[in-house]
Amino acid sequence: MSMYLVTHKLKIFVLWLCYVYLARCKPQMRLAESKNILVFGGNGFIGSPVVERLLAAGHNCTLINRGNWYWDSWTKIRPYVRHIKFDRMQKISKCSPLIEILQNNETFDAVIDFSAYHEFAVQEALSILKDHAQLYIFISSDSVYEVCLKNHSNPSVESDSVRPTDEKKRQRLANIDDYGHRKLEIEELLEYQRKDGGIPFIALRLPDVVGPRDNTYRWWLYQSWMRLQEYLDKKVSIPSYLSKHLLSFVYNNDVAKLIEKLVSSDVDPNIIDQAYNLAFTETFTLRQFLLDIKTALNITNLDIKEDDDPDTFRLFPSVTLGPINTSKAREMLNWDPTPWKTALVDTVKFYESAITRAEFDVPRRDIIRSLQIYFSDRPFKVLIGFKREYGIDYPKDEL
Ligand SMILES: *[C@@H]1O[C@H](CO)[C@@H](O)[C@H](O)[C@H]1NC(C)=O
Ligand SMILES: *[C@@H]1O[C@H](CO)[C@@H](O)[C@H](O)[C@H]1NC(C)=O
Ligand SMILES: *[C@@H]1O[C@H](CO)[C@@H](O)[C@H](O)[C@H]1NC(C)=O
Ligand SMILES: *[C@@H]1O[C@H](CO)[C@@H](O)[C@H](O)[C@H]1NC(C)=O
Ligand SMILES: *[C@@H]1O[C@H](CO)[C@@H](O)[C@H](O)[C@H]1NC(C)=O
Repeated sequence: MSMYLVTHKLKIFVLWLCYVYLARCKPQMRLAESKNILVFGGNGFIGSPVVERLLAAGHNCTLINRGNWYWDSWTKIRPYVRHIKFDRMQKISKCSPLIEILQNNETFDAVIDFSAYHEFAVQEALSILKDHAQLYIFISSDSVYEVCLKNHSNPSVESDSVRPTDEKKRQRLANIDDYGHRKLEIEELLEYQRKDGGIPFIALRLPDVVGPRDNTYRWWLYQSWMRLQEYLDKKVSIPSYLSKHLLSFVYNNDVAKLIEKLVSSDVDPNIIDQAYNLAFTETFTLRQFLLDIKTALNITNLDIKEDDDPDTFRLFPSVTLGPINTSKAREMLNWDPTPWKTALVDTVKFYESAITRAEFDVPRRDIIRSLQIYFSDRPFKVLIGFKREYGIDYPKDEL
């Protein structure tokens, strides 16, 4: 065989290898459908699974946040995104990297806003991004119903978000739930800006969110409270006024799946400029929710007491009006949430393993410290519990 043929065959072989390699790296290579996405936040509980999915689908992500890389987002997200460090309490005109991007006429297929808590921040973002963005996805909350006039006792539907016309009543409700008031104020702003050709929007109203990597530690605290019950002084309990109260929850991974779908296809005029409730199909009482976690943990000898003290410790729910109706999202967005039992088992497993994983050292220390402070009078006994149950052995002085 001539030298030429050998090198030629080698070339073909190398090309074939490249092809196999590129096919494996498909997520980064699907340039045809690749979108340019701007994300406010994207490093937290809801945002990081969304960004992970967007990256896996081959989209370009620019993240604007304060630069706190929670959980393992420093390794899973930070290296693969363009990051702009910025605190939204500041004027966006001071965010020079973003201003520069826009001056270069770069446009975004979608903006996803996970960190909107103040109307002024969204107002500024909308005005600066006008003509540079196709779609604005706003993460809202079922708390919006708390400042409205719900006039039925079924699960809240999207059209219940109508504030009282009476100014005093309006103000009273807004004072009771400032968070819901602000979230609704932002939805109202999004609607208003559309009147002079602003950015099309979608508002996603989420109830309490569950799943892995929760920065609020609510699920993990309940799980550890039950798991380490015999080493803690505080007995597992729920407030009795919640005994019959039904709750909605949503899975962070389901929200991520939906948002990826929304930004991956062209903007559908039939679904924009509206709000959607998202939640598991199942609803349950706080007791049932905790019993399910207990069962998934294979714990048999544990009672969940009811306490008549209205100030009894509780971490869910964050609203008073009960569950939300997700028919609209099912119909219009093909919302198809994970079955509760699957999400339950996956989440329980995640936190059972998180406690022993070195890369989660910050959150697991927070959990151990919280149990020592709020659930026990004998901090050392808590450490014994963690050692016996999980085999983790912290020197006392480190905690
Ligand atoms: C994504 O980023 C790459 C590298 O900077 C660029 O070549 C590509 O055009 C970008 N794609 C989109 C959709 O902006
Ligand atoms: C951006 O667009 C404007 C108006 O079309 C144009 O004048 C300007 O040169 C463009 N800037 C860049 C960096 O392409
Ligand atoms: C209940 O409130 C909604 C939203 O404000 C309104 O459209 C509807 O007519 C009200 N229904 C009744 C029975 O008052
Ligand atoms: C949810 O909303 C749909 C559409 O408005 C309605 O048909 C259905 O009965 C509602 N479900 C519940 C449980 O209220
Ligand atoms: C509970 O038991 C089942 C069946 O033995 C097992 O598959 C599962 O891993 C256990 N769960 C935990 C959290 O230990």
